[in-house]
Amino acid sequence: MSNTETKSGMLQVQNRIEPAQHEVLALETLRQGALISDKQFDRVYPLELRDLSHRHWTPVRVARRAASFLACTPDTRVLDVGSGLGKFCLVGALTTMAHYFGVEQRKSLADIATAVARQHGVSRAQFLNMNMAEMDWSGFQSFYFYNPFQEQVDPTARLDDSLPCSLQLCELYLALVHARLAAAPAGTRVAAYHGIGLGLQMPEGYELVSDHPVGTGNLQLWLKIQ
Ligand SMILES: C[S@@+](CC[C@H](N)C(=O)[O-])C[C@H]1O[C@@H](n2cnc3c(N)ncnc32)[C@H](O)[C@@H]1O
Repeated sequence: MSNTETKSGMLQVQNRIEPAQHEVLALETLRQGALISDKQFDRVYPLELRDLSHRHWTPVRVARRAASFLACTPDTRVLDVGSGLGKFCLVGALTTMAHYFGVEQRKSLADIATAVARQHGVSRAQFLNMNMAEMDWSGFQSFYFYNPFQEQVDPTARLDDSLPCSLQLCELYLALVHARLAAAPAGTRVAAYHGIGLGLQMPEGYELVSDHPVGTGNLQLWLKIQ
């Protein structure tokens, strides 16, 4: 982030992140197909948010693997449900040809994700600040979940205390996700790292293509066949 002085002499924080040379190089390395560490990637984020990465943001190697499954063609639109600082979408856009959209209810996180994407020229990653429940999912062919509603039922998973949390809200969100995935057409792809929430069973018609331990949990890949 950088500061500028306004006419009135007050300092104003701008939503810009100046990329240092090592960050540019790290993302370029990833773009060219080599793996980088999470520590290298996370330097694109403000210092005070990097410590959250291990628990809350998808590891680079998990994101690469999930994205390579979800990105069928260059026209594929992938939605990350609860995109946080945008790590999954950024890695996906840097390592595949598809288009990535993140929906994130916390404005501060969506703003940083947008700033990082702009600063590093990752034009195929875009972020929307809203509740995923209020969004139309019909324009997407693939979906990514990193256990986004865990904070509803597990206080240790909360990023902050800014939002109401309850088991009822979690169940409501999961019912909505289930209904939307059930209504999606054949060919829809879903990747879930650490699950979607509360052991949610996928709707009928989805075939489990892969279920492997990676990072700190399992990555499940699903394909809707009918
Ligand atoms: C575990 S983090 C995952 C972040 C990102 N998908 C990644 O893998 O790097 C879950 C995120 O989901 C967001 N979230 C939870 N419920 C949401 C909702 N109903 N609508 C939009 N975002 C939500 C949280 O604010 C949090 O940033």
